[in-house]
Amino acid sequence: MQTTLKKSTDPLSVAADAIVVFVPQPAIASGSAAAADLALDGLVGACIADGEITGETGQISVIHTGGLVGAPRLVVVGVGDGSVDAWRQAGRAAGARLRAIKARTVALSPDDADVARVTALVAGVGYGAYRFDRYKTATPDPELAELRIYSVVVTPAQLRRASRLAGAVAAARDLANTPANDLTPTALAARAAELADQTAGLECEVLERKDLQKLGAGALLSVAQGSAEPPKLIVLRYTPKRGAPSGEVLGLVGKAVTFDTGGISIKPASGMEEMKLDMAGGAAVVEGVGLIAQLGVHVEVVAVVPATENMPSGTATRPGDVVRALNGKTIEVINTDAEGRLILADALTYAATVAGATRLLDFATLTGAIVVALGEVYAGLFGSDEAWTESVRAAGAASGDLCWPMPLHPGYAPLIKSKVADLANAAAKRQAGAVYAAQFLREFTDGRPWCHVDVAGTGMVEGAGTGFGVGLMLAAAEQLAHAPRH
Ligand code: BES
Ligand code: MN
Ligand code: ZN
Repeated sequence: MQTTLKKSTDPLSVAADAIVVFVPQPAIASGSAAAADLALDGLVGACIADGEITGETGQISVIHTGGLVGAPRLVVVGVGDGSVDAWRQAGRAAGARLRAIKARTVALSPDDADVARVTALVAGVGYGAYRFDRYKTATPDPELAELRIYSVVVTPAQLRRASRLAGAVAAARDLANTPANDLTPTALAARAAELADQTAGLECEVLERKDLQKLGAGALLSVAQGSAEPPKLIVLRYTPKRGAPSGEVLGLVGKAVTFDTGGISIKPASGMEEMKLDMAGGAAVVEGVGLIAQLGVHVEVVAVVPATENMPSGTATRPGDVVRALNGKTIEVINTDAEGRLILADALTYAATVAGATRLLDFATLTGAIVVALGEVYAGLFGSDEAWTESVRAAGAASGDLCWPMPLHPGYAPLIKSKVADLANAAAKRQAGAVYAAQFLREFTDGRPWCHVDVAGTGMVEGAGTGFGVGLMLAAAEQLAHAPRH
């Protein structure tokens, strides 16, 4: 999706497949909507008077213009209360409809909406126009190829940021949605290497099974040992060109279980196909660090993505097995389906103690319990450091990747105790499952400021990846880039 900026507020004469204008709720035609109404002989006003156009967030009306304006169709989009979130959601709805009506070149006229709203709109259109049709043999609908934004308030750089963000989110969704027979740990590592090849300042290193053995990453290896697919620890390092004023090294960590059968503690068959998405956090981290590097954000980043399958087999880890993690702690594997915390344990240790991260932020489709608690709207946010947790929450709110603070407390610590090892990866009690997992991860953060985002509900919706986290990571990185050195 290409985006161009027109420093004008008059799109009506443009030759495009559609012109998009916006109305608030309660509906009133002003700005470009009023101009369109005038050109169309009061048609927009009539739709408003009839109650057909209400201005509700994401409501879409497609009006055929009969040649009265430059484009054959006028698309009227509701922006509700006019909040940034409403503009993003309006963009999403518009993107989906524009794709459905096979529009290729579109003019959008957000009038005097501010930068946050226009960029949320542009990213939203990208999200809404997304399709995953790579495996369909029928010819796909044409892509939404070009957006012309009529705005005098945004700069080309701000617009580029929004469209690159939409591109990175789409790339993360593609990775998540690709079935596990094609998106293996090896394939994910190849994508990371490709990104590094394409991007200045971004370097990729992939640790193989023998490297992990030498290192002592026994937790990650214990998950991988049941699979014929070799595991990978993907490390992407971004060094900004003109230095990083904050002196911080942002450590991004993402769970990439390319397929989670549960292992010997096997999952029920119904819905198991969705577990191809159990690498959504890792996909977001790979594309997120790629985006941060492409945009040249002034902060150092190291991304660590443990990638493996979780399979049952004659070589798989058994419940009751004890493994030794990279930081030396021993873990009793009570449930082989609690594999995410095992691979993240070693990835967090690696990020903090080998790769030099000064603060940590992980994304993982970690627990069904967070889906029960928060559904698909908010991700669960856990953190060891109040200021860092608040920054992450704010970055999520600004980007639309909503996070709700969840507790950690010494009172939960007894949950993760084992009779035979330092820690157990699952408890007998069915209590606070998402907190348990976070409390477990904390043991591997080497005391660094750390946040954990459980995206089991928000990273996958209706069996498809959402790209949740990419926007949050960019916003969090930008915050660090502008933070004073301390
Ligand atoms: N990948 C799953 C969590 C998950 C569940 C993600 C539903 C998305 C939707 C994770 O590996 C898992 O199986 N977690 C278990 C942990 C339990 C065995 C302690 C869970 O949540 O049931
Ligand atoms: Mn599992
Ligand atoms: Zn899993």
